[in-house]
Amino acid sequence: MFTTIKFMNKYFLFLFALLLVASCNKEAPGNEVFKGFEVPQGFPAPTYPTQTNPVTKAGFELGKKLFYDGRLSRDGTISCGSCHISFSAFTHHGHVVSHGIEDKLGTRNAPAIQNMAWMQNYFWDGGVHNLDLVPISPIQNPVEMDETVSNVVAKIGSDSNYKKLFKDAFGSDDITGIKMMQAMSQFMVMLVSANSKYDKVIAGTATFSADENEGKQIFEQKCSSCHSGVLFTDQNFRNNGLAQNSDKGRYVITLSATDEYKFKVPSLRNVGYTAPYMHDGRFFSLEEVIDHYRLGVQPSATLDTILQQNGNTGITITNDEKSKLILFLKTLSDEDFIKNPLFAEF
Ligand code: HEC
Ligand code: HEC
Repeated sequence: MFTTIKFMNKYFLFLFALLLVASCNKEAPGNEVFKGFEVPQGFPAPTYPTQTNPVTKAGFELGKKLFYDGRLSRDGTISCGSCHISFSAFTHHGHVVSHGIEDKLGTRNAPAIQNMAWMQNYFWDGGVHNLDLVPISPIQNPVEMDETVSNVVAKIGSDSNYKKLFKDAFGSDDITGIKMMQAMSQFMVMLVSANSKYDKVIAGTATFSADENEGKQIFEQKCSSCHSGVLFTDQNFRNNGLAQNSDKGRYVITLSATDEYKFKVPSLRNVGYTAPYMHDGRFFSLEEVIDHYRLGVQPSATLDTILQQNGNTGITITNDEKSKLILFLKTLSDEDFIKNPLFAEF
């Protein structure tokens, strides 16, 4: 009898220890704890004015609640998070163009929301320069949320929970459109992706396979003049030779003929998670993207000069180089970022 109890005790102790380990493990990957905004090693100074609108825990939490709140749309069904889903690096996974209120279709693919604090302008055509002003576009867009900022303020203004959150974040329960935007910026500024295998290799805590390393060299020769630096974009507007349709990109903003069919060079971080690709989601795989650069580049008046050298259009890439390039691109996947419960809706 005594030995059974002793055994049972040991057994429970063991179970208890297991549970303890399991619960510690759950916390171990770490990022769940709010640590505030930090510039990762090797990143440039942010463009977002974090001095004017510093990220606080309360502001971040308010911004997150707003980001995932359907009340920002006319009929309560569409939140920012409907089109910007955490597990696909805040793109609209599986949707060629965005899908908004009453199932209406937009014309462009929802880009990733990551490292927004370093961007000089937003949207494929760079139509907005200030992150605080970004939410106005989707809120008012008739095929996205089809609402007005003042209606949103009125809707959430009567919610005592929101009053408390605004007070915690800004010191007063007075709810305004500007504070709403600033809180959403605080949430978006926190969406930093800087912990991919690529980053770990740079930091010296991981190593590339031989093929990944070759892929990196090919990338540096053939892609990084546009997808440059730690952000993997030079933030310019360029025409990469896609077959044209009615969307003239940067031209829509500047009305200058030299900007026709130019689009913002997208970051390639998390590109393994953000299919489909390009401003209209026309390519479903990285294979298709690379085939575009080697076989599909269309000559036109504004085609980037990098893509038409020595009388050739496009980039020469062999089959072997193509597979190594893709292996390298996948090292930009940041699992900690897409799985961070601090950022996810649920
Ligand atoms: C119906 C889908 C949809 C909804 C809802 C939506 N977005 Fe977007 N988002 C898009 C699309 C599409 C684009 C690209 C638009 C363009 O380039 O013209 C975009 C672009 C962005 C960008 C710019 C990213 C970059 O790299 O330039 C940010 C930031 C953003 N959205 C944040 C938000 C916020 C905040 C909300 C909620 C207020 C929101 N979005 C709601 C589809 C959506
Ligand atoms: C001349 C500049 C330039 C070069 C060189 C270039 N790109 Fe791009 N890339 C762009 C532009 C601009 C876009 C967006 C075009 C659009 O959507 O209209 C883009 C889009 C992409 C996308 C889609 C990303 C997304 O989120 O939709 C991928 C992937 C990509 N490029 C990979 C590469 C690779 C790999 C190489 C080298 C083989 C390369 N690019 C070379 C300018 C360039």
